[in-house]
Amino acid sequence: MNIEWANSVDLHLDLEAAGGRRQALEQALREAIRSGRLAPQTRLPSTRALAAGLHLARNTVAAAYEQLTAEGYLSARVGSGTEVAGAPPRPAPASVPAAPAAPRFDLRPGSPEVGTFPVDAWLRATRRALAGAPVSAYDYGDPRGRPELRAALADYLGRARGVLADPERMLICSGYVQALGLLARTIGGPIALEDPGLAFHREVVRHHGAEVLALPVDELGARTDLLGRDGLLSARAAVLTPAHQYPMGVTLHPARRRAAVAWARTHDAVVVEDDYDGEFRYDRQPVGALQAMSPEHVVYIGTAAKTLGPALRLAWMVLPERLMEPLTAAKRLADLHTESIGQLALADLITSHAYDRHIRSCRLNYRRRRDLLIDRLGRRHPLGGVAAGMHAVIDLPAGGPGEADVVASAAARGLAVGALGPHWHTAPAAQGLIIGYATPSRASYPAAVDLLARTLHGR
Ligand SMILES: Cc1ncc(COP(=O)(O)O)c(C=O)c1O
Repeated sequence: MNIEWANSVDLHLDLEAAGGRRQALEQALREAIRSGRLAPQTRLPSTRALAAGLHLARNTVAAAYEQLTAEGYLSARVGSGTEVAGAPPRPAPASVPAAPAAPRFDLRPGSPEVGTFPVDAWLRATRRALAGAPVSAYDYGDPRGRPELRAALADYLGRARGVLADPERMLICSGYVQALGLLARTIGGPIALEDPGLAFHREVVRHHGAEVLALPVDELGARTDLLGRDGLLSARAAVLTPAHQYPMGVTLHPARRRAAVAWARTHDAVVVEDDYDGEFRYDRQPVGALQAMSPEHVVYIGTAAKTLGPALRLAWMVLPERLMEPLTAAKRLADLHTESIGQLALADLITSHAYDRHIRSCRLNYRRRRDLLIDRLGRRHPLGGVAAGMHAVIDLPAGGPGEADVVASAAARGLAVGALGPHWHTAPAAQGLIIGYATPSRASYPAAVDLLARTLHGR
């Protein structure tokens, strides 16, 4: 039975337990307090109100309250009724497995400096967006996403990333990972993924029923010149990170960009452009999107994971016309559509240009961090992939300490770093560290870099 408490919380009490009605009520209250459903300091209804709600005698409720007060679950306050005191401490379980201690400094790649999430701007954008939103915004919506966000993104992507984007060809997704899964499901056939690349993305593609093929990467980026040949003959799609290869950090060479597009055209295949950190380029203007070279053969995917934060789970696809319908259908079947309130807030953030301002300030922050990293390490340990993004690669040449040794000695000092190892499809072709320089807080970053330098120099 659901009882509305004096302070307006609802609680379901199951009085079907064996024994008398008083014992059943006591048992139900104990269980609710222990499980946390009734939090400490929650005011209980008066004995009269609860008795009426549960069709019990008032004495029965009063006796149950007294019993639980005596047991320490409830406390009776003169003049303010009865409230939850909190569950008596439970005996500690015999053996609790020790949780791994969080590293003191975290230089693993993957996240931006999440502490810079523009909380105030986001609140203002949400407030403005909701004040102006039609009532229908709170209902089920278009599987492609909110029209406000698709329009704002089409404009932003055109001017900032050189994407040829039409709001009618866009699909808003819950993160890049959902976009990749929907594509894998829709394309069905084998998909070439960069080697090295994120193991998690290989898992996602396989989970959605497509075979993964390895597309090697060299100093010019992904070997798109190999597409359509030998082991890659059956590929129906190739997923690339052209602006800043993940994890090696190279920018895809113009000849390789042309080769990718030519392959997609001649084989009726698609190139998937994962533009996960394309906004962050330090040595010159960001490299424009590959998508503009052939919008009918390239799927562009952007994400808010690096520009704002992974927590938003917001990403966007710009699709060739022939993929629009099957992907919209797949998205609808996956989750109807991505939640709308965050989409409206992001649309406002973009149209008010607060998004651009935030990115500019992050770019400056990461550029300074990158410069410090190069300054402290660069002479003895050349860094790869530093022209863009928020991670760099440190080569570990054969003959010196390997990845496992360096990662372990860093961990012993309280420093977490990434390694290339898990990124290879099969046998590792090289050893190296991946340093994500955005993650630590601004205050702790210099100390994290010092510790990395000392670890690498064996001091
Ligand atoms: C290569 C790459 N692509 C895409 C993403 C973004 O993924 P999502 O939008 O699912 O957070 C990341 C995030 O770390 C990434 O490393």
